Amino acid sequence: MAEVLRLEGIRKSYNVGTPAETEVLHGIDLALDERDFLALMGPSGSGKSTLLNIIGLLDRPTAGRLLINGEDTGQLGDGALTQLRGRAIGFVFQYHYLISAFTARENVMMPMLVDRGRPDAAMERRADDLLERVGLARWRNNSATNMSGGQQQRVAIARALAMNPDLVLADEPTGNLDTKSADDVFELMREINRERGTTFLLVTHNDDLAARCDRIVRVVDGWIAEPSD
Ligand SMILES: Nc1ncnc2c1ncn2[C@@H]1O[C@H](COP(=O)(O)OP(=O)(O)O)[C@@H](O)[C@H]1O
Ligand SMILES: [Mg+2]
Repeated sequence: MAEVLRLEGIRKSYNVGTPAETEVLHGIDLALDERDFLALMGPSGSGKSTLLNIIGLLDRPTAGRLLINGEDTGQLGDGALTQLRGRAIGFVFQYHYLISAFTARENVMMPMLVDRGRPDAAMERRADDLLERVGLARWRNNSATNMSGGQQQRVAIARALAMNPDLVLADEPTGNLDTKSADDVFELMREINRERGTTFLLVTHNDDLAARCDRIVRVVDGWIAEPSD
């Protein structure tokens, strides 16, 4: 099974070189294969989002190695990191970050536009196919502001899949949703994981959803906690 992600001794300090310097990740080891669906849990402030930002190549670790699809990202410059991020990783956040002036289809096209520069018919078709997959074909010309929270997260999931990523990072994607919508959004991600083999790393505080993942990893005070069972 192909290894999508490997973290070795990842550390992160903020405010390095100032009196406010604090280390928030103290040496994280973690590996994820193709098709894995992992729940990342832990108290607020324990470092989950910091870790996701590092895995998502939005921020660099202070120490340690981060490999994506076997490639050591520490060797890559900013341009190569941006390209790798765009092609290998999809993001779903708690707040959807859809562009409200854009239609659902245009939002889903965004990662393809960023990668390829200008819109074309193939991009529109792919966006429409993805919107159909998340159950929103009829909503493609609606602006995100006219949609429910659950629908907005479905658009965000379609957008995360636009570049056919190997890894989707989802940081509390159901945190703002009612129970039924949270369940639907979770099931959609689970189905996509099974259909496409996409690896998912899901941050959640929801025990019921976490129990339906393949594996649960807990972060406590910047460390991976040993499994209690
Ligand atoms: N940009 C930043 N600068 C300084 N400290 C930060 C920054 N981002 C997060 N932190 C601190 O790092 C710790 C971990 O935060 P975070 O990764 O957001 O935790 P979680 O997502 O688990 O709630 C917290 O103590 C937080 O205050
Ligand atoms: Mg967080």
